[in-house]
Amino acid sequence: MKIAVAKGDGIGPEIMDAVLTIFKAGKVDLDYEVVDMGKWVFDKGFSNGMTPEAQHTIESLGILFKGPMETPKGKGVKSVNVTARKTWNTYANKRVFQTLHGVDTVFSKSGIPIDITIVRENIEDTYGGIEHMLTHDVALSRRFITRPGSLQVIKYAFEMARKKGAKRITCGHKANIMKLTDGLFLECFQEVAKEYPDLKADDIIVDDLAMKLVVRPQEFDVVVLTNLQGDIISDLCAGLVGGLGFAPSANIGDHISIFEAVHGTAPDIAGKNIANPTALLLSGIAMLRHLGFMKDAAVIENALLYTLESGVHTGDFGDKNIPAVDTPAFSETIISNLGKQPRLNAKPVLPNMPVTPTMFKLNRNAMMVSKEISPEKIVGVDMFIESEDQPLLIAKKCQRHAGVKFKLVGISNRGTQVWPTGSMYTNLVNLYNVRFESLDDTPLNQQDVLGLYVSLSGDFKICSSELLLMWGNKRAYSLAQGQ
Ligand code: NAI
Repeated sequence: MKIAVAKGDGIGPEIMDAVLTIFKAGKVDLDYEVVDMGKWVFDKGFSNGMTPEAQHTIESLGILFKGPMETPKGKGVKSVNVTARKTWNTYANKRVFQTLHGVDTVFSKSGIPIDITIVRENIEDTYGGIEHMLTHDVALSRRFITRPGSLQVIKYAFEMARKKGAKRITCGHKANIMKLTDGLFLECFQEVAKEYPDLKADDIIVDDLAMKLVVRPQEFDVVVLTNLQGDIISDLCAGLVGGLGFAPSANIGDHISIFEAVHGTAPDIAGKNIANPTALLLSGIAMLRHLGFMKDAAVIENALLYTLESGVHTGDFGDKNIPAVDTPAFSETIISNLGKQPRLNAKPVLPNMPVTPTMFKLNRNAMMVSKEISPEKIVGVDMFIESEDQPLLIAKKCQRHAGVKFKLVGISNRGTQVWPTGSMYTNLVNLYNVRFESLDDTPLNQQDVLGLYVSLSGDFKICSSELLLMWGNKRAYSLAQGQ
């Protein structure tokens, strides 16, 4: 079996070499094709940070094992790490956080075991990076949460939880505030949960989750979250088990999967050969299990756990009374411990069952659509306009443009209603949301909305607009605070 390997930037080549040396010593039957990805590829003029040959190789092999890669700052280029995850639809980001004996934390010292798997949605949310300055004062980031995208990652999380024999699966969210976006994610979670009656499924508001993870981490098992919240919560969990040096990550898709450490290129220690390869090694071990190399994964993981238990450590962790070793010496120690069993948490050595790689060649992009449940009608439009006028004056001007099809129903500023009712104590910025609805509740069409747009543009700069939709009796838009 062959996989693609990108060594990455900064400490990437040092830790990747260490891990591949351990794999070789563990007689892992894998071939590697090294591909060109990372900052130096950006620097050569490839704007997405990878060569076309690299893309072709990864798409035909289906597995990418990668070191961390630097995102050039201030050049307007996007992170190659995020591009890779999104381009290849690796929709589920699985991060496992377990107590590692030899890595002291407040929890390990108090005998509190941690075994938490975070499944983070990996493609949507604010990570679309669709951002605009609407006025000189106002930036807008679009946050996409989709039903098919949410179902995909949540189904993965439930399947994984069942395979893992998890006791509990929890959805972290902020649906109390973001009722439509996080509300949709939670709705999908509750829908999927019905298909898994054997698993205890519950949900928790993300801020409460953050507190409870710190206070009682042992109560959590599998936690599934949207992208940004999942990113933050998984770094919190990394802190519970000793830091980023111990946080592995698997980006799982239907066709292509990417395995990498959570940490970055550590420019402050790059080139010194002192980096800790554990997170990348744990990611590689997860990859071996994904590919069916169960025995090899367990033997290498047991050697790693034995090494950590014995107190051997790189400079970023461990007992300061025991001198730190460099990266090659750390990996050599792991190699010398292959075949040994750690005292605690030894992994069962199951037989290797390499999965036959599915050969696939896609000739079209998959379109994921949910069935429409009720008929849709346009009932109004939100116009986001730039103005420094007071709400009353804006209302007067806007009413002139409402014509025979629309009525002005409300004006809000940063989501708080300021007309027809509001408070003088609400501070304003120069972007208002002016909401028009159908005058007599008759459905509108897009031409009606365009007519209003043209008329209104005579008085205001319209920065953005959104249709107000009804699906049957269900409102497909949120109300302003105070409406
Ligand atoms: P970082 O994770 O590279 O470093 C944060 C701190 O942790 C530094 O003090 C570093 O020395 C230490 N550290 C990280 N990994 C370590 C290891 N294996 N052993 C010992 N110490 C380690 O985060 P930072 O500095 O914010 O980012 C540096 C670069 O990495 C940026 O260009 C960023 O875009 C990129 N990055 C790439 C990621 C990826 O490829 N998946 C993920 C995160 C950041």
